[in-house]
Formats: sequence, C-alpha cells, structure tokens
Amino acid sequence: MSKAPCDDLDRQIETATSPTDISRRTFVKTAGALSAAVATGLPTLGDAQTTSLVQTHSLTLKVNGESKTLNLDTRTSLLDALRESLALTGSKKGCDHGQCGACTVLLNGRRVNSCLTLAFAAEGYDITTIEGLAHGDQLHPVQESFLTHDGYQCGYCTPGQICSTVALLDEQKRGELSVVSFETGKLSNPDLTDHEIRERMSGNICRCGAYPNIVAAVRAVHQGVPQA
Ligand code: FES
Ligand code: FES
Repeated sequence: MSKAPCDDLDRQIETATSPTDISRRTFVKTAGALSAAVATGLPTLGDAQTTSLVQTHSLTLKVNGESKTLNLDTRTSLLDALRESLALTGSKKGCDHGQCGACTVLLNGRRVNSCLTLAFAAEGYDITTIEGLAHGDQLHPVQESFLTHDGYQCGYCTPGQICSTVALLDEQKRGELSVVSFETGKLSNPDLTDHEIRERMSGNICRCGAYPNIVAAVRAVHQGVPQA
C-alpha cells in the first residue's frame, strides 16, 4: 500500500518530545499534499466526517390535505421540504432566519415561519400552504381581499402575508391579545383596529412597502367587505 501524505507527519507527532521536533519541511510537505487532494477532489478525512453527519429518515407530511412520504436529511427545514421536495414554491425564502415572514405557513391553523421549523417537527400536523387556501377556482376570502385592495406590488411577500392574515383572523376570533391590546387596555376580545392589524402583521415584512393596502385588505376581510 502506498504511503499516505500525512504518514510522515503522524510518525513525527507520535515520536516528538516537543512541538519543535516536527520539522517545518514535513509540515509544509504534508499540508501541500492535503491541499492538492482537496483541489483534485480526492476523498479526505474531512469528507468522511461530513458524509457521516447526513442522516436521512422517512417521514410523512400532511400538506393541504394530502399525505406525502419523503426521505429527508433530519436537518431539513419545513420550507425546504415544501419547496424542494414537494415543489410547493408558493412559500417564499426571504431571509431563512425567521425575520421576514415570507415563508409563513399554517400548522393546525397556527402560523409558523417554515424556515425555522424542522420538517420532522411538522409531522402529525395539518400543514396549509398558500397553495391550499383556494378551493379550485374559488379563491380564499383573504386572497380575494388582497387582490381587490392591491395588497402587493412585486408579490414576493404576499403568500406569507396572506397565510399570516388567515391565522390572524382566527387569533382575533379566539380573543387572543397583542402588545397593542395591553397598551390600549382592551383585554377582552379587542377590536381589530388598524393599530392591532399593524402590530399583529409586524412579523411579515414587505420590501415594496405595500403596507397601507395590506392593512386595508385585512380590515376589509375582517369586516366581511372584501370588495372595495
Ligand atoms: S424566510 Fe422565513 S422568516 Fe424569512
Ligand atoms: S409586495 Fe414586494 S415585498 Fe411585499
């Protein structure tokens, strides 16, 4: 068997009585050989360690009413599973850090940032994405309201804004409170004022600044008057 590039260095490390016993020449020669191996794509110890970190397992996700069985790296985010494994590209990747809300989907009706949710953590939940809100050609009332009130410009944030609004309306019906509810002292079934809407939608960033029309769309669908 031919001698591996690091054999000389290994031997010197084993027999060294002090760090200076490892010759500079051996160190430079070994480092060069390892760099060349990386550059030429030959497998290295690092590759072996990386490969061993990838653990794939089977899971079943219930998305928009359909069960889908996948084999995924256990570290896959729900957003990547939706977009890359299920081709449901309506949910957008804006920041991938839980800061913009473009990836918002519903788990059992509650809104989550799918970029911060592991796909395996979503097993057993009813997952609803923007693709699952309409019934055939019949848009969801929140989708209708965003269309009617021009609640978007480029549209990149819009799937997240719409999913967030669907959940927000249910949260308000359940009497859930926001920071604004405490500020205004309305602690029992607070009205969905524009102030409340802005606070409750503050996790969804719109880089186009379509906020006035987004608030109008949410207000209108809450009041049951999605048409302008
Ligand atoms: S992509 Fe998930 S919060 Fe921005
Ligand atoms: S419509 Fe462009 S980011 Fe919101």
